[in-house]
Amino acid sequence: MSGKTTLIDHPLILHKLAMMRDKDTSTKKFRTLLREISMLMGYELMRDLPVEEIEIETPLEKMKAKALSGKKLCIVPILRAGLGFVDGLLELVPAARVGHIGLYRNPDTLEAVDYYKKFPDDMGSRIVLAVDPMLATGHSAVAAVNHIKKTGATDIRFLCLIAAPVGIETFHAAHPDVPIYTAAIDRELNDHGYILPGIGDAGDRIFGTK
Ligand code: URA
Repeated sequence: MSGKTTLIDHPLILHKLAMMRDKDTSTKKFRTLLREISMLMGYELMRDLPVEEIEIETPLEKMKAKALSGKKLCIVPILRAGLGFVDGLLELVPAARVGHIGLYRNPDTLEAVDYYKKFPDDMGSRIVLAVDPMLATGHSAVAAVNHIKKTGATDIRFLCLIAAPVGIETFHAAHPDVPIYTAAIDRELNDHGYILPGIGDAGDRIFGTK
């Protein structure tokens, strides 16, 4: 089975992403744009969530209306840049749980090393959205999903802003059952594992640390 990548390239998303890429965009603006994009992407990502008929009463009469059914959501940001996606997604699904996974890249090997994990107990019965703005080498994403699968989760989706072709390939090879949703597929990685043309260091740009 080979994995599926969905490009969510709605004009509003592309416009906001262009502003995020601009090196002169401020931290405040960058954060706002990421929050807006995460809502637009989340909207598309959740298009296939199951709904059920429920009976309600409007001020005028009874009716059968559609409401979300089935599995609940868990958002799992990969620390720290993944945090930039959380507020926007929670705005769409306020009852979602939030797990966390902390990974850093070994600067020499570019391998992902984990330093923190915390998930809700019932991951097996949830749709899990693993989120990280940049799918670069794919090592962090693969490692994060390895940890998420160990919790018993089986319905997992990976959401990013920009993916590199090599990251997509690595991720699908390791997790063909986990679809990727991205707003852009950029050209390549530089020698330090950064995506070109990219947005630079997503964590630094979200948190203003550089
Ligand atoms: N992480 C980032 O923040 N930016 C990249 O370009 C690649 C990985």
